[in-house]
Amino acid sequence: MKKAVIIMLSLGLVLAWGSTSFAGPKALMETLCTRCHKLKRPFTKKKTRAQWEATVNRMAGRSPQITAANKAEIIDFLSKVRDVDAPVQTAKDAAKLTEKEKLHIPSINAPRKVAARSKAKIRVQIGKAPHPMNKEHYIYAVDLYVNNRWEDMVELEPGQEPGVEFLPTMYKTFPIEIVSHCNVDGHWSAKTEIKAE
Ligand code: HEC
Repeated sequence: MKKAVIIMLSLGLVLAWGSTSFAGPKALMETLCTRCHKLKRPFTKKKTRAQWEATVNRMAGRSPQITAANKAEIIDFLSKVRDVDAPVQTAKDAAKLTEKEKLHIPSINAPRKVAARSKAKIRVQIGKAPHPMNKEHYIYAVDLYVNNRWEDMVELEPGQEPGVEFLPTMYKTFPIEIVSHCNVDGHWSAKTEIKAE
């Protein structure tokens, strides 16, 4: 487990707060899918469950390592986290958040400015409230988009803190978007910008 954390850090990627790293479906995809291509391929798409089933079955046809059990777990995950029919929700009025928005909108704590080509430490709590992390209701993943491109994802499980940390390299001044994924209430986005000079 420690090794996984060190590898992630050395790539400048991501951690859950308190970081007992959790190897769920995203970690499984890192093992199985990146043998041929980056996770950007699946994570920049949205599909219905039937379409994800077809895609993952097609990939499994090329790779005997993708077993039936692996396939089921990955199809399940992608159908939730990249569901074409589920909207990404934002705060309607930032000054007057609803109860649901208070629970789900990512609270982003990031520097306003960093030196160009350095890493920006972005701490995110889901949400202002913060969100519960029990088996019935929890945040199962958090995405980072830099310059409107998918950059990374942290997966979470019940019992963990509803917080993650990202360390993207800021080549230029870029918009940052964080999207949280709740097992009950769907997808929620917040945006900021980090200047890099
Ligand atoms: C043996 C190599 C290989 C493995 C392993 C593999 N892929 Fe692919 N994947 C490809 C190739 C080649 C393409 C581009 C051609 C195509 O679309 O078939 C591709 C394309 C894709 C696409 C874009 C096309 C589409 O239908 O949306 C997605 C999404 C995708 N892969 C998901 C996955 C997932 C998820 C996994 C792991 C479960 C995975 N792949 C594992 C070789 C692989």
